[in-house]
Parts: sequence; structure tokens; C-alpha cells
Amino acid sequence: MGHSSIANLRACVFDAYGTLFDVAGAARRCEGELGGKFAPLAALWRQKQLETTWLLAAQGRHRDFWAVTGDALDFCLETLGIDTPGLRERLMRLYLTLDAYPEAGGVLRALKAKGMRLAILSNGTPEMLAAAVASAGFDGLFEAVLSVEAVGVYKPHPRAYQLALDSLALRAHEVAFVSANAWDAHAASAFGMRTLWCNRSGQAAERLPGKPDYEKPTLAGLAEAFEA
Ligand code: LAC
Repeated sequence: MGHSSIANLRACVFDAYGTLFDVAGAARRCEGELGGKFAPLAALWRQKQLETTWLLAAQGRHRDFWAVTGDALDFCLETLGIDTPGLRERLMRLYLTLDAYPEAGGVLRALKAKGMRLAILSNGTPEMLAAAVASAGFDGLFEAVLSVEAVGVYKPHPRAYQLALDSLALRAHEVAFVSANAWDAHAASAFGMRTLWCNRSGQAAERLPGKPDYEKPTLAGLAEAFEA
């Protein structure tokens, strides 16, 4: 597959939440207080957060990801009947210092060592992304940490993916987009980027426009996948 070899790639652009940073981490660190409600809260919080971004994008409206994440958390706490004092603030604060997935740092450093340009393209606000990158020890790895706040519309709107091309001054086929969010990987593929879907949860394939070029269970071996 000469056309799709790593040699033709100029940059690797990563989704942030769920791909590099473990979104369940905030709720997990409050497992002691949440007990059996930890898993339902983590799942519902993420689902509501994402749904809200899609609905806003479909309406041509925008509220930033910090506000959306807080609103989604309030919805979940109300739905699950959780009213522990101070828990909301604690969960939101933890969202700024999510753990990176264990393999992420090594994969990023290996790609950088091969001369690959690295960037993040995320729904997160610049402040959220800066905090997550610093807390994971990823400072200096990314040439650009791009927030959709620069275009005011959430993924999967094409303008969000275009932001990466404009910022890196590259064409779509020169960019590999990596996301653990299947809908995000499909949208980047439909947009014209080469795409790797990091299918962490082993979910069934989406029936959406686009088709990820590669699928892996974690980020491990990502550089090798592009070489194949
Ligand atoms: C992001 C969301 C999709 O980081 O996880 O953009």
C-alpha cells in the first residue's frame, strides 16, 4: 500500500478525550463516594456531554466544552439522585487532570522520533486541553493543541476538521487522524483524512459516512499500522 505508507503522512492529529485522556478517570477517582453509581455516572456523563455537542452543532449554536461538561454532569447527578456536597466541584476539577492512557506517551514519543508532526484537535476548551496536556506530562510533544473554540462549532462539523488542515498548512490526505470515538473517526475519514479508529471498548462498527483506514484496540503499534 504505497499510497498509504507513513512516508506520505506529514502529521498525526489526535482527538483528546477518550483517545489520549481517560474520560472515566474523574468519576473513578471519586469511586469511594459514588460506590455502585460510579460506572453509571461515568457512562451517562460522557454520553450526555457528547449528545449536547452534536445537538449544538446541528443547531448552529455553541457553548464551550467546559460549560457543556458541567451541564451534562448536573443532568447526571440529578438523574442518578446524587447530591453529595462538593462532589460536583471535585468531579469538574478532576476533569482537568485526567490520566493519560498508559500507552499514549510512548506512542507519541515514538511518532515524534520518526519526525511526525503531532497535534491535538479536540472539542475541549484551550484551558481544558492545556491542563490535560500538562498533567499528562505531554508538554513539548505537540506542535499545535487545537480547540474547536477557534471555529465555534463542534466535531463532527467539517469546519472543525478543516481547522487542523489550516493550522498545519496540510492537505487532508497528508494527515492521519486518530480517535477512539468511532463517530469522530468516521467524520474525519469522510472529510478526507487518513484515519485510525482506536476501538478501546470493542464496540461494533458504526454505520456512518466514512471508513476508518485502520482499527486498533489501543494506541500501541500505531506507527507500525501506518507503515503497513
Ligand atoms: C474531543 C472529544 C470528542 O476531545 O472527546 O474532541
